[in-house]
Amino acid sequence: MERTFIAIKPDGVQRGLVGEILQRFERRGFKLVGLKFMQVSEALAQKHYAEHKERPFFGGLVAFITSSPVVAVVLEGKGVVATARAMMGVTNPLNSPLGTIRGDYGIDIGRNIIHGSDSLESAEREIALWFAPAELLEWQATLGSWIY
Ligand code: TYD
Ligand code: MG
Repeated sequence: MERTFIAIKPDGVQRGLVGEILQRFERRGFKLVGLKFMQVSEALAQKHYAEHKERPFFGGLVAFITSSPVVAVVLEGKGVVATARAMMGVTNPLNSPLGTIRGDYGIDIGRNIIHGSDSLESAEREIALWFAPAELLEWQATLGSWIY
């Protein structure tokens, strides 16, 4: 089953949006397979954003993502890579439609609340970078046997 990597960035955590964001993905029907609250190291930030290392915003981006804790998430479900990106909006929150996470909660491109993998290949790379295999849990809902 398809998986994607999501990170709720320091601004999302500091603004108290963690529950709100996770709720949107849960309600859409995506399944949590990995979840952790963590401080990002300089090395992880540089590897994660390696594609942007020549860009003028790279230094500020790495400084920001390492500045305070983030929530790292792996979600599973049909079409989750593209659908999670659609639910996030576009990179600049000001251009993101209302109803998307960035469009509802952001105004600043450098404080756009959430990261999501942009392709199946990125998702595979990012999941391996952020999570050890044992941190990704295989589980099934057993509704019916104990919810009345
Ligand atoms: P990018 O991968 O282009 O965007 P996305 O997060 O939508 O995949 O850029 C990574 C992050 O870099 C982006 O979320 C915010 C930051 N950024 C800037 O601060 N300024 C910029 O001009 C761009 C393009 C990105
Ligand atoms: Mg990107």
